[in-house]
Amino acid sequence: MENFTYYNPTKLIFGKGQLDALPKEVNKHGKKVLIVYGGGSIKRNGIYDNVLEKLAEIDAQVVELSGVEPNPRISTVRRGVEICKNEGVEFLLAIGGGSTIDCTKAIATGAKTDVDMWDIVTKKEKATDALPFGTVLTHAATGSEMNRGSVITNWDTNEKHGWGSPYTSPAFSILDPANTFSVPQDQTVYGVVDIMSHVLEHYFHLATNTPIQDRFCESILRTVIETAPKLLDDLENYEHRETVMLSGTLALNDMLSMGFRGDWATHNLEHAVSAVHDIPHGGGLAILFPNWMKHVLNEENAARFKQLAVRVFDVDASGKTDYEAGLEGINTLRQFWDRIEAPATLADYKIDESTIEQMADKTVIARPQFGNFKTLTKEDSIAIFKASL
Ligand code: NZQ
Ligand code: ZN
Repeated sequence: MENFTYYNPTKLIFGKGQLDALPKEVNKHGKKVLIVYGGGSIKRNGIYDNVLEKLAEIDAQVVELSGVEPNPRISTVRRGVEICKNEGVEFLLAIGGGSTIDCTKAIATGAKTDVDMWDIVTKKEKATDALPFGTVLTHAATGSEMNRGSVITNWDTNEKHGWGSPYTSPAFSILDPANTFSVPQDQTVYGVVDIMSHVLEHYFHLATNTPIQDRFCESILRTVIETAPKLLDDLENYEHRETVMLSGTLALNDMLSMGFRGDWATHNLEHAVSAVHDIPHGGGLAILFPNWMKHVLNEENAARFKQLAVRVFDVDASGKTDYEAGLEGINTLRQFWDRIEAPATLADYKIDESTIEQMADKTVIARPQFGNFKTLTKEDSIAIFKASL
């Protein structure tokens, strides 16, 4: 392992009826609250009314920003920053999935500076502070509820970048699995794929002696693989929602990556695809991850792929080389994602060869090389995109 410091200041409030904790948690920070939400799912499923009822208990003065897009845009962040500054907002509450939470992180940061938030997202400028914020999570996928990361898209320049700061960890996150009952089938699949992909990004690292981290990763993958098909047959099953929700948080709250840096090339590839085509993040990952795996698998690194194949996908490695067993594991992952009807090719989103060059350029916009387990360049991006057509 490499040396590390682990610090995660987010208070996780998990389980049935935990929205009851909201008034007390918000009250610690102030009464002027900006609630941030997406395209209206929270109005249809009643979460909006439940939250307003709770905020009324502390006589909070509520202002709203609605319409946060999936793949949230810098233009929406700027609108939120303006509201915060004009209204003297003291606390922000994100109610939604990763997009709403990521947008809230950016608004909270922008509210405390005169620098344009896009300069902070693109790391030209540094975040120096942020308003405090909390989340009511309604979709299990990104882990944004317990990490400091945020991913923002600029639709004028077709760029999508991840950023984060010491000020962008939520003060608290309320996770009631029942609040995810209404997540539709396709979004539930994307969430499952995103969760698995976060674990896989961690799993491919170059550190040695990480047996605990390996087993943590493997147990989450096995649990999600076991639970997802049952959940997809029964979307309002509390226990399955609960299992997937906790998996999502643990998959990206930095606990799994203690002592090493994961790969993250596939996320970079996916962000390039959605920057150009605005597709769902989990859908893009389902297409790209097996193709990234096949692209980087070689005789030298095959032992890692074999371990995944044997321990997670129950591949019988006897009589096989590490490479053969590893490849069988990749194919089993693909079959699992096919079984839950995750997208398999870029053609599923009507993406053809014509934008490959443009997407590949986006993968190297921040750095000419990317990926920590295997260093990739623009040529690798092109090859992986071509294999994904
Ligand atoms: O907008 P509304 O109407 O709320 O509908 C949303 C949206 O259409 C819907 N939804 C959410 N909760 C629901 C619900 N529908 C019914 N019932 C509910 N309870 O689901 C749709 C997708 O929501 P979104 O927030 O976009 O999904 P997700 O959580 O997957 O977030 C995706 C964004 O997060 C970024 C992605 O790149 C993408 O921009 N990521 C953020 C990360 C982070 N901050 O750590 C890491 C990830 O790897 C990822 O890159
Ligand atoms: Zn992701």
